[in-house]
Amino acid sequence: MDESPEVEPSPGVTGHMQFHRMDDMTPTDFEVLREVHEENLHKLPALLLSMLDLLGGDEAYPVDRRAHSLQAATRALRDGRDEEYVVVALLHDISETLGPLNHGDVIAAILKPFISESNYWMLEHHPLFQTYFYGTQVGVDPNGRDQFRDSPYFDQTAEFCALYDEVSFDPDYVNESIEVFVPMVHRVLNKAWSPPSS
Ligand SMILES: [Fe+2]
Ligand SMILES: [Fe+2]
Repeated sequence: MDESPEVEPSPGVTGHMQFHRMDDMTPTDFEVLREVHEENLHKLPALLLSMLDLLGGDEAYPVDRRAHSLQAATRALRDGRDEEYVVVALLHDISETLGPLNHGDVIAAILKPFISESNYWMLEHHPLFQTYFYGTQVGVDPNGRDQFRDSPYFDQTAEFCALYDEVSFDPDYVNESIEVFVPMVHRVLNKAWSPPSS
């Protein structure tokens, strides 16, 4: 996929670390390490968008899951949701390939540094909340979400599933193109790296 013209040029990595163990690292090593992390951050939007593309061509679904994701994001955009929410809608299922048993946990963890606590919680719990709509047909308690009634994010997550996730398998719905969303993904993920503090 071509990168958006709005995308900053890669910061690049200019050196090579010399250490054999981390407690021997020099200031020069740390500077190169910082560059490596910055480079990884720079590449993250394209990597996540490529994971979205992996959901394409999934012919078993009424619309493939890439189109499902675009549809969820398009509905959110047309409802006037903020940019972070739209990006969360776009990426909410990309980890189905990497975490088929816990895709909500996986995408929530990946996006945690970039998004609000409420959107993080929503991503983490959306698979369970989705069962409200189909659990009965597969022998799963559709009210499993009720254990989280006291969460301040319960209503937001229930709403996300009702308005954007469970309904977004409509082959007749006209999505915005991915190009509309690519700059949004870059803006939401635009954050400088800093060493872990814990
Ligand atoms: Fe999902
Ligand atoms: Fe979904």
